[in-house]
Amino acid sequence: MNRQDIDQILAEVGALACKTQKEVEEARVRLLGKKGSITALFEAFRTVDKDQKKELGRPLNELKQAAIARIEELKASAVDDGADGASAEDLTMPGDRNELGSRHPVSIVRQQIVDIFRKFGYDVAEGPEIEDDYHVFEALNFPPNHPARDMQDTFFVSSGHINPILLRTHTSSVQVRTMEKSQLPIRVICPGRVFRNEAISARAHCIFHQVEGLYIDENVTFADLKQALLLFAREMFGPDTQIRMRPSYFPFTEPSTEVDVSCNICHGKGCNICKGTGWLEILGAGMVDPNVLEASGIDSKKYSGFAFGMGLERIAMLKWQVNDLRHYFENDLRFLKEFETAPEV
Ligand code: PHE
Repeated sequence: MNRQDIDQILAEVGALACKTQKEVEEARVRLLGKKGSITALFEAFRTVDKDQKKELGRPLNELKQAAIARIEELKASAVDDGADGASAEDLTMPGDRNELGSRHPVSIVRQQIVDIFRKFGYDVAEGPEIEDDYHVFEALNFPPNHPARDMQDTFFVSSGHINPILLRTHTSSVQVRTMEKSQLPIRVICPGRVFRNEAISARAHCIFHQVEGLYIDENVTFADLKQALLLFAREMFGPDTQIRMRPSYFPFTEPSTEVDVSCNICHGKGCNICKGTGWLEILGAGMVDPNVLEASGIDSKKYSGFAFGMGLERIAMLKWQVNDLRHYFENDLRFLKEFETAPEV
């Protein structure tokens, strides 16, 4: 080999022009491949004598570098072309999809409940999660020393004033706001997030969701309440569902009741979900206390009403037999994906 051989290939590299990736690859093989012309010069270089080695070593290396650089350059500008001249990319391949999320079980239940009451003619009202004592307790006839007003049960944002700011412990506060500003009759449900200062366990959480309802008109009776709840229970849990009412106490209703539905798992025979009783407790309800109506400026001689409230996590637990409330808040995809196929409501 001699200097001429190197210069000749260098000129060839300088003049190299390729349109497609395939041509670039061919040029690379021709120059730098196992049997390429530059590779061959390196082979020959091994046998040249010492003086020539000194003379040719450097230009030979420079040639190789120039060839590599030129190939890279061409690669960057050449078009993607397959062997047959078609695009190297398979344009028929499906694209990468963004995975769609699915609805949270609590949202599914909430929507179902809202839809049922919408059919009965109820409006939906929402209100602030950070509330004042007046709307959460005072206007709802809670006596000043009621235990719910204790730090043990309620998260206070600021205390010590006449009307402390706190995280609402129920969405009954939205009912108060509705009574203050709406015209009668009122028929409303209030879904939303509520907060209670509870130790987190399988059965309790410091955050959960409620739907509360309120109906106020002339001559609303306990029979209307019973009928509304029975219709609701049958829409929600199936047409054979029965309800049972047990006497209870809430400061804002009189009389008050706790409502059970017949267990939709064992159909009243008794199982470990209903703890052998055949009944599942799902909500609290009652006739709105006249003091509550009067506090919001409604004439309790002329108007009466009923109210009810239920926890969404509890209903979702019963519906899908979830045994630990904490699953709802942990965002574990293995849990959430189980509801992907839950019916659209
Ligand atoms: N506010 C009650 C609670 O949070 C539920 C309820 C609402 C009870 C309306 C009776 C009437 O537990």
